[in-house]
Amino acid sequence: MQEKIQVLREAFQSAIAEANTEEALESLRIAYLGKKGCIADLMKGLRDVQDKKTAGQLINDFKCEVERAITEGIEAKRAEALSMQIRSARKYNPTLMAEREFGSYHPITLATRDCEEVFAGMGFTFEDYAEVVDDYECFEALNIPKHHPARDMQDTYYLENGQLLKTQTSAAQNAIMRKYGAPLRAIFPGRCFRNESTDACHENTFFQMEGMMIDENISISNLIYFMKTMLSEVFKRDIKVRLRPGFFPFVEPGFELDINCLICGGEGCPSCKNSGWLELCPCGMIHPNVLREGGIDTEKYTGFAFGLGLTRLAMMKFGVKDIRDFNSGNLQALMQFKSV
Ligand code: DAH
Repeated sequence: MQEKIQVLREAFQSAIAEANTEEALESLRIAYLGKKGCIADLMKGLRDVQDKKTAGQLINDFKCEVERAITEGIEAKRAEALSMQIRSARKYNPTLMAEREFGSYHPITLATRDCEEVFAGMGFTFEDYAEVVDDYECFEALNIPKHHPARDMQDTYYLENGQLLKTQTSAAQNAIMRKYGAPLRAIFPGRCFRNESTDACHENTFFQMEGMMIDENISISNLIYFMKTMLSEVFKRDIKVRLRPGFFPFVEPGFELDINCLICGGEGCPSCKNSGWLELCPCGMIHPNVLREGGIDTEKYTGFAFGLGLTRLAMMKFGVKDIRDFNSGNLQALMQFKSV
């Protein structure tokens, strides 16, 4: 028996020396300690041995030896795998990543810059404005008093101090009129928020680009001219537009400017709610109440304003079918725009 055990021990030692993986060690466990393993065979052999006690003791010692060696081997393999993981995690270096893979601008940034370039060419200045505003800026100054039904469309997120996340870039109109007075040409892009359920064409966080032009003798024809010029330059092709009457308390008259859906070519798809048209740029002549609230002399000046849906424009420009992709943080989707 002793000799048999010695032969098995030597075989085991060389087998365990070669077992490089946890799986290999598990197979050894089965081969030696399993029901049909070598040690079970040794136990069966006890029947033919005279000094069962000594032989049994020897088998048991060998069994303990095998168990300990396999358990220690497995623990060592696990520790090794863990330290490999830690070491490779330490290798992560954001600077090195950047060397290999340059970042790219977000498609909304690209669309904003395109529009800014066009408007700069037409003498507009750019303004940046806060995302957290108060009720006066977002509504009251825009001819939307408390309890006005127009507020229903613009439910948003309120802070405990009564401020709110702006629902529209129009919220900056008053401050900009007060800052520059008339005459004035300004655009002010920004992030807007609304408490609404999301789908392929609605998001609770989106971008608009507001614009205002105030001067003597500004009329609807100026408005139409500027909108058409801007859109054809941004899209670098002929764009079909249509103007419909639209109601916004801060303009009179107000319009909805729609463009032919560039994703489906006007046939109808989820991005345009199957209508073939996309509301892109509501606009109108600034309401005298709003001008007055901004300190502008309404006897002398008139002006137009527009609220371009920047996120929608980016969808059209880059063929993004689902608005939710923009805020998804999905780099695979967003990095595609680096070369545009
Ligand atoms: N602020 C409006 C909205 O988000 C859009 C808008 C409509 C802006 C007409 C304007 C305008 O400047 O004249 O629904």
